[in-house]
Amino acid sequence: MLRYVLTFLAAALAGDLSAQEFETLKGHGGPIMGIAVSPDGEVASASFDNSVGLWAGGTPVWLEGHEAAVTAIAFGPNGELVTGGDDFAVRLWGRAPRLLGQHQGKVAGVAVSPNGDLVASGSWDGTIRLWPLDGSAAQTLPPPGAGVNDVAFDPGGEHLYASTSAGLVLRYDLAGGTPAPLARHGFGVNCLIVGEGWVAYGAVDGGTRVIDAESGAQIADFTLDRRPVLAMAYNAQTGRIAVGDGHGYIMVLDTAEWRIVQDFRATRQGPVWALAFSPDGSVLHAGGLEDVVYSWPVGLLDSFDPEMGNDRTFLRNADSMPNGERQFVRKCSICHALSPGPSRKAGPTLHGLFGRAAGTVPDYSYSDTLTGSDIVWTAETVDRLFDQGPDHYIPGSKMPMQVIAGAGDREDLIKYLETATKGD
Ligand code: HEC
Repeated sequence: MLRYVLTFLAAALAGDLSAQEFETLKGHGGPIMGIAVSPDGEVASASFDNSVGLWAGGTPVWLEGHEAAVTAIAFGPNGELVTGGDDFAVRLWGRAPRLLGQHQGKVAGVAVSPNGDLVASGSWDGTIRLWPLDGSAAQTLPPPGAGVNDVAFDPGGEHLYASTSAGLVLRYDLAGGTPAPLARHGFGVNCLIVGEGWVAYGAVDGGTRVIDAESGAQIADFTLDRRPVLAMAYNAQTGRIAVGDGHGYIMVLDTAEWRIVQDFRATRQGPVWALAFSPDGSVLHAGGLEDVVYSWPVGLLDSFDPEMGNDRTFLRNADSMPNGERQFVRKCSICHALSPGPSRKAGPTLHGLFGRAAGTVPDYSYSDTLTGSDIVWTAETVDRLFDQGPDHYIPGSKMPMQVIAGAGDREDLIKYLETATKGD
């Protein structure tokens, strides 16, 4: 199996904000099904190729042991790494790697308790098991009534939440007793995140909801018309949730005001199966069909990101922005700066875009397609780019496929860009 590292910038992982870069972790021989980040910023990836990649110090370490695709992965507070796979196994890695145990079906979710004592695993066999890391006997929780898709501890470690293929979100009191159904979604719930007092979940039908962690009362509904939701990640420091879906989009939510901060097409092809934030929340790692982990600097809530231009647009509520600006902030700003000068984002700065020949920002490493293109960017060509999508308009481009279906949205975006790309 060909495994190599193409680009790896350890600085971003070490949390050096000044050196944040868009990075790509290459080497897996199959799609990425799960990503977890340790408290130290070490990235671990779970893959269809049966292996787990540990991306520290520039060279991936391959953890082998699973006999089928690895789909579930979690770090504990002291760097305990736990995985679950299609081989029904739950494995613990580290100095003394071992098999914690087996389910009778695929393991779809694993979690480590906040104090690092306990591993929870949920399986399509309809069981949830608790594995004490001191080696004492495993415990099986009362059955959730259907295949388990995900499990998560609450921050206090007193409750375990589970989501099932029958659409239930259940709350287990770890002191004992029968589980309480918190939500009956009606469609399978693929993933969940538990914060202080809330549970966020994503479902097969695209349902993306936040409910009260005790009563199940709805706090917010971010359901868009895409489906299904496949991955979620949370960073407590920035208070942000990332949601990945089957159409390759990532939506970033702010939990302080419960609003959408970003919503962008993240993969060139296929779904977003895996998401994880760096410990300080400044980098978002994503994986899917493409065998690589993409890592974006997402900017911190409480710090000024000069890449965003000279205002603090990214701190404002996109809902209250004029439509053109909102289109840019949500769909483009993750990858494109508007200010002149070199940008550390994944795409070239759009400063001075109109009238400029494609592929000509100095120091930006374009695809050959764009470098060799004879397109000049005008209102008309930018409109065509997002009417047809980059994959049709400039096939071979590095820009992820993204169509903006509404002619009005494209018009508003272009009007906004005509002004915003002129400033200095
Ligand atoms: C996930 C990252 C990403 C997103 C989101 C994204 N782009 Fe891009 N964009 C790129 C990359 C990467 C390139 C360079 C493509 C190449 O070299 O083939 C690019 C190139 C471009 C170019 C050509 C620039 C030049 O100098 O020739 C334009 C115009 C552009 N993008 C506009 C947009 C707009 C407008 C949006 C929002 C609707 C957007 N992009 C969303 C990554 C992205």
